[in-house]
Amino acid sequence: MKTIILNGSPRKNGVDSNIASMISEEFSAKGHTVDVLDICRLSINGCTGCMSCRKTGKCVQDDGMNGIIGKIRESDMLILISPIYFAAETGQMKIFTDRLTSAFTEKRPLGDVKAASILLTCADPEGDKKYGSTLNRMLDEVGYLKVEDRSGVIIGGLSPDTLRDSPKVRDYLDGLIRKL
Ligand SMILES: Cc1cc2nc3c(=O)[nH]c(=O)nc-3n(C[C@H](O)[C@H](O)[C@H](O)COP(=O)(O)O)c2cc1C
Repeated sequence: MKTIILNGSPRKNGVDSNIASMISEEFSAKGHTVDVLDICRLSINGCTGCMSCRKTGKCVQDDGMNGIIGKIRESDMLILISPIYFAAETGQMKIFTDRLTSAFTEKRPLGDVKAASILLTCADPEGDKKYGSTLNRMLDEVGYLKVEDRSGVIIGGLSPDTLRDSPKVRDYLDGLIRKL
């Protein structure tokens, strides 16, 4: 089974990149293939709203988004990870999800993807109670992309040094592993 993880945090070695590594290590140990992409390092431009993709299925822009939708389509599981920045996903993650619009014209916009999971991390330990609307909006977008099995979690109060011992992170990973 192939999994693609899109990390929306610009922070190297932060919470999100460490969780992406944990998922990658555990899935790989079970014989699955995992691709982790740091979208903040891919120079992805914002959608221009030109609507060409509604006719052609392709974006007119030639940038870091090239090939990513193809990679997603070959995957069985899609995982989007982002820190919360002022009550929303990072700007880079929003730009990335806006650009998925060019897949909308396809009957199966995300190809082989059977399950999509969204993980939002935040500093506030009670963030799961505060940022549900952000998670729901992102889950809706994955719904427009016709992925039926979609789920999401918000985990607050993590640090790169302690997250491997977090029961919430463990639960999240166990939930993903059950989908493999
Ligand atoms: C610009 C900025 C805005 C943030 N806004 C929030 C916020 O609104 N609520 C919150 O709980 N944490 C907020 N945080 C904290 C991050 O969401 C949190 O530390 C996250 O786990 C960092 O993940 P990372 O290490 O992968 O970047 C913010 C951090 C930054 C840098």
